[in-house]
Amino acid sequence: MYYPDELVEEIRAKNDIVDIVSGYVKLTKKGSSYFGLCPFHNEKSPSFSVSPMKQMYYCFGCGAGGNVFSFLMNYENFTFQEALKVLADRAGVNLPEAEYSAQARKEADKKTVLLEINKEAAKYFYYQLRGRQGEMGYRYLTGRGLSEETLQKFGLGFANKTSNDLVSYLKSKGYQDEQLIQAGLAAADERFGLHDKFWNRVIFPIMDINHRAIGFGGRVMGEGTPKYLNSPETLVFDKSRNLYGLNFARTARKNNMILCEGYMDVIALHQAGFGQAVASLGTAFTLGQANLLKRYTDQVLLAYDSDGAGTKAALRAIGILRETGLAGKVIDLSPYKDPDEFIKNLGAEAFQKRIDQAENGFLFEIRILQQGFDLSDPEEKTRFHREIAGKLCQFSEEMERGNYLEAVAEQYQISRESLKKLVEAYAVREGLAKPINRPKSGIQSANRAKEGIRRAQRLLITWLTEEPYLYARVKKYLSAKDFTDELYQKVAEKLFEGFEAGNSNPGSIASFFPDEDEQRQVAMLFNTKIELPDSLPEREKAFHDILLTVKRNSLDYYSGRQGSDITAINQVLEAKKALEELNKTHISLQE
Ligand code: GTP
Ligand code: MN
Repeated sequence: MYYPDELVEEIRAKNDIVDIVSGYVKLTKKGSSYFGLCPFHNEKSPSFSVSPMKQMYYCFGCGAGGNVFSFLMNYENFTFQEALKVLADRAGVNLPEAEYSAQARKEADKKTVLLEINKEAAKYFYYQLRGRQGEMGYRYLTGRGLSEETLQKFGLGFANKTSNDLVSYLKSKGYQDEQLIQAGLAAADERFGLHDKFWNRVIFPIMDINHRAIGFGGRVMGEGTPKYLNSPETLVFDKSRNLYGLNFARTARKNNMILCEGYMDVIALHQAGFGQAVASLGTAFTLGQANLLKRYTDQVLLAYDSDGAGTKAALRAIGILRETGLAGKVIDLSPYKDPDEFIKNLGAEAFQKRIDQAENGFLFEIRILQQGFDLSDPEEKTRFHREIAGKLCQFSEEMERGNYLEAVAEQYQISRESLKKLVEAYAVREGLAKPINRPKSGIQSANRAKEGIRRAQRLLITWLTEEPYLYARVKKYLSAKDFTDELYQKVAEKLFEGFEAGNSNPGSIASFFPDEDEQRQVAMLFNTKIELPDSLPEREKAFHDILLTVKRNSLDYYSGRQGSDITAINQVLEAKKALEELNKTHISLQE
């Protein structure tokens, strides 16, 4: 970290988490917290909570959690530095220029370095395209109908024929071999040493939603294999959570998104005025990408290749979209292969017509399904109808199912009544097919016992945070060392220090755990659901039990470590004494 902890804390404290999150998620107040639909996973009823008191968010559904910094890092895909900068600006705090001393540079987080390298590489490729060596690339791209404006907008570039000039350029900027390899831009082999990954190709920089280059695609000019070469996944390039073109499409202000297969498709569509086009990154469309799209739209139009492979990919994508709760439609591109060719031949107006006529995803599935059956054969026809009935069962809402049933019955001339009966029969059968309960194995129960103890530790931390006056009543029996998980112990230390100083603050503690996975764990620690009994004596018993569980585990844990470890020996003595006292002490929960 380049900035002092106090500055980080000042910026955090000046940005209320409810204000920040409500800029992205619609929140409703419920008790002392706010709730909304989780932006990090797909859900229909709100399990995402934001606590003004703790200054943290936590999702009871998927476990995403953290403070204002981690929220922006996850939602906007920012690095810590970027989140800090945005929040400092917002709060009017002056951020001194980060100092890149030799030491700081070494410690700079790896992601930031990789982003810098990518940025340098993107600039380099961009200038090469306009240089003498790049003429071929420039001719190739303009020959495919791209305007100068489009080349600039997408930052297209060129990798020279020589196989190590990017590497030497980046090394002259001070980057290390290892860093270039980690950025996916260079590879080392015995014969050639360190060399460029991309050469003699036109380059498509892949940008994240904040217009930062996170990877590259390179195409051969003309025939050749592989046609496209793509960056491997790196620390900053997660192919399942980014989409080509989304940096522009997110602000296109159309009521849909167009999902295509290729970079060239996206570029051609944008150039033709369809700024809402995006593509997956040379890999199949994923659930993460569907969730990303869901932030910006509720309707996705598929413009996949019209060949067999494209159809298969479209069927998969429809399933994924449905899983996310997005309506998927399919654009018919025939007689052309892909959107790029379609636009080139028939133009934007004709494409708009195809958008207007896009086919409902479910009806598309049924139409493709039908192609596998010979409907003049009664046996095959029956099987086709059965398959339809099975598919209709996936709509759990009766009205929706009814509407689809009607549409399909009409299109394929099936008796509505008999199709309905068939669907009902299937639905009943589905309902009966419950998963069997398998006997639990010994390993599972040992894991469960361990998880039970961790849960008790989390419950205690959450409880103390929510009712801080309790700390004074338990501190003589409890220390941070009783939290036997390393991360839990660190959090407990900070929390108890805070209690002692009268200013415990979970949101601030979270800043000490910059790693995403750690942030989630910290958030979970402060947000373990406590289902409290109503009556005071029962609540007091529950609290007492949790405290005993934590203490007993602590005694077990340190007993196993006593050997020559003086801390462990002390812990054991202390825990024995505390347990004895606790067993005859009543801790009141009255404020
Ligand atoms: P053009 O032929 O330039 O019009 O390409 P396209 O945009 O029509 O792409 P195509 O439909 O052939 O492929 C779709 C996407 O799959 C491309 O944008 C690439 O991301 C990826 N892709 C295509 N060919 C290859 C390949 O040979 N290797 C890899 N790794 N990815 C490829
Ligand atoms: Mn194409």
